[in-house]
Amino acid sequence: MSPRKIIIDTDPGQDDAVAILLALASPEDIDLLGITAVAGNVPLPLTQKNARIICELAGKPDTKVFAGCEAPLQRKLVTAEHVHGKTGLDGPVMADPTMPLQAQHAVDFIIDTLRHEPAGTVTLCPLGPLTNLAAAMLKAPDIVPRIQEIVLMGGAYFEVGNITPAAEFNIYVDPEAADIVFKSGAKLIVMPLDVTHKALTTRPRIEAFRALGTPAGRCVAEWTDYFERFDMGKYGSEGAPLHDPCVTAYVIRPELFTGRHINVVIETKGEFTLGMTVADWWGVSGRAPNAMFMGDIDAEGFFALLTERIARL
Ligand code: RIB
Ligand code: CA
Repeated sequence: MSPRKIIIDTDPGQDDAVAILLALASPEDIDLLGITAVAGNVPLPLTQKNARIICELAGKPDTKVFAGCEAPLQRKLVTAEHVHGKTGLDGPVMADPTMPLQAQHAVDFIIDTLRHEPAGTVTLCPLGPLTNLAAAMLKAPDIVPRIQEIVLMGGAYFEVGNITPAAEFNIYVDPEAADIVFKSGAKLIVMPLDVTHKALTTRPRIEAFRALGTPAGRCVAEWTDYFERFDMGKYGSEGAPLHDPCVTAYVIRPELFTGRHINVVIETKGEFTLGMTVADWWGVSGRAPNAMFMGDIDAEGFFALLTERIARL
């Protein structure tokens, strides 16, 4: 089967970095048309710089990286330095990138790509707030039916919130953007905290990356060493949830995941529940299903794939 054409939209973020490395290490499965950076974990100047750092670490300096929206559609930006550190990629010390940032705005790249590639052949993989995707849909509604599917990390049901008691970070930062994407009619595959919290690094899993003895393996180990302290402190979990690599792993091996096709709506008004993904897991709302909402993962298979592919870099 020919590799799937994808665009990764991202706010790196250590877990975004691992997701991007997995994509770049899998040319037989993924044809990465471009990486579009969005403001999220850290401000846009850092997310676009980090995306280029990651591409150079992978030895892929020809990857096209675009800068997108520097703030949510209607709200002030909320960032997550408390999780990812000041740079967004805290852990290993990384040199500044030398590869260029593309001049075109990320939103226009998304629009142009969907218009020029054959309809139904491009998958969008957002790993951060959905601002760029929503802005593209607002600017060019004609692109929506041309999207093959959207595989996104965001939301939660049983795991509820990680940035507020009710909301997951990517959705919370730009709930209006998420509302547009979830109402768009595009085919949605959602990786919520319910599944990403089962993709936990453990000491042996992190040491397997370090034992690769490569710059990429060392960085993945040091990123997860840094990144895990937040979740271990908050949840008392054994390690860090590798949220965003679940998206890339789904594109490569969807059989690693199971979930339900259900209705998911976004809370955009709630005083205490803003950004909540109201997931009708039990089918009580009568609302039409609009998303494949993942609930389980073959974690051993996930980490085996991740380690095998990162070893290639
Ligand atoms: O809530 C986890 C998500 O928020 C991940 O994508 C992480 O990188 C941050 O963007
Ligand atoms: Ca992210």
